[in-house]
Amino acid sequence: MASQVRIGIIGAGAVSDYHHVPGIRLDPRAELVGVCDSNAALVEKRRGEWGCPIATTDYEEFCRHEKIDAVIIATPNHTHCPIALAAVACGKHVLCEKPLGLNAAEARQMYRAAEKAGVVHMTAFTYRFAPAMRYLRHLVRSGAVGEPRHFRSQRFLDWPETSWGWRQYKRSAGAGDLFDMTIHRIDFAIDLMGPIAQVCGAVRRFVPRDRTADGQPCPPSEVDDWSSLIGEFRSGAVGVWEGTTLAKGYGRNGFGHEWAEVNGSQLSVVYQLHCPNQVLIGRTGQDLAPQPVPAEFLVAPGSPRDPHQGEPATVFRYDVVWEFVSAIVEGRPAVPSFYDGLRAQVVADAVLESYAQRRWIAIDDEPR
Ligand SMILES: NC(=O)c1ccc[n+]([C@@H]2O[C@H](COP(=O)([O-])OP(=O)(O)OC[C@H]3O[C@@H](n4cnc5c(N)ncnc54)[C@H](O)[C@@H]3O)[C@@H](O)[C@H]2O)c1
Repeated sequence: MASQVRIGIIGAGAVSDYHHVPGIRLDPRAELVGVCDSNAALVEKRRGEWGCPIATTDYEEFCRHEKIDAVIIATPNHTHCPIALAAVACGKHVLCEKPLGLNAAEARQMYRAAEKAGVVHMTAFTYRFAPAMRYLRHLVRSGAVGEPRHFRSQRFLDWPETSWGWRQYKRSAGAGDLFDMTIHRIDFAIDLMGPIAQVCGAVRRFVPRDRTADGQPCPPSEVDDWSSLIGEFRSGAVGVWEGTTLAKGYGRNGFGHEWAEVNGSQLSVVYQLHCPNQVLIGRTGQDLAPQPVPAEFLVAPGSPRDPHQGEPATVFRYDVVWEFVSAIVEGRPAVPSFYDGLRAQVVADAVLESYAQRRWIAIDDEPR
């Protein structure tokens, strides 16, 4: 039987190989039919490894291909907007990596074009799919947490102080830790707590990164390796976010330290990336205590993935493709959509503006 959704991947680098290809392989409704990358040698390598009949270095030709129904865009940030616009112009459904664009103007253009074309659009905000995050959201939405008062996020990584390649230049990345890491946490904070009303942010670049890992000189980094913000939600709740790639000793097997919590009038609930199948629950007078995530939150609804197989901090990422394909097959919007990508981008842009102007920035409503 022919697959219902024929997927082409544009950008055959790390994240496609680690997250998206395994996600497609797990989904009986999906088939990986094509690979596109500007690096011709990588296209040839992936064509063999991934077994793709369609292979090219030209994304415009790829987007026009009649045997592709949907594309996954996993290229450097500055290429997301032109590639997504080309894909939706050809009527393809699009799953695009975060940050959606280099700035909110690009993200807005992408959202509007995808809506107008009537295609399914999704932003790969992976951490929404972590079981503990899904359960935390349920505890907030069901009222178990009570009135949510504080949101807190820490993302601390212990990365080498060498070049980040395209990720360290404003023209290709937009910003550093803020757009790479903190933007995920802005997204899930909005999902948990509702819209953000205003923010006050700060970023800092500590490391020049003017050498590659093998010691070759390169132009120095232009972007932050530490980012932070405080914010007020429309609900009256408050939030604090901090991210860094320079936290010595926070390697945790490559996954780094991640802690996110909501303190409500009834409960505190904590999500941690390194043990994503449990939450910590706190009640007045009691210390935080672990509680397993109930079975129904361990995988995306309907997914055939066995939640007990593989590295827990990795395998939930495969559910991103499950959600994308489900939305296409079921004829409904995907969650998180380009709208969510845009909302997070507006806040991330405001962090940069806030720090440049040393003041709080109000966040306007984004019309749907
Ligand atoms: N959601 C997540 O958790 C997550 C994790 C990692 C990366 N990402 C995002 O995924 C994207 C890719 O990151 P990565 O780590 O895989 O990068 P990478 O550098 O490993 O891969 C990017 C690939 O895109 C190719 N490319 C560049 N320009 C192109 C073009 N015009 N057309 C076709 N191919 C092109 C490059 O040759 C490279 O192979 C980034 O936007 C990044 O922020 C998201």
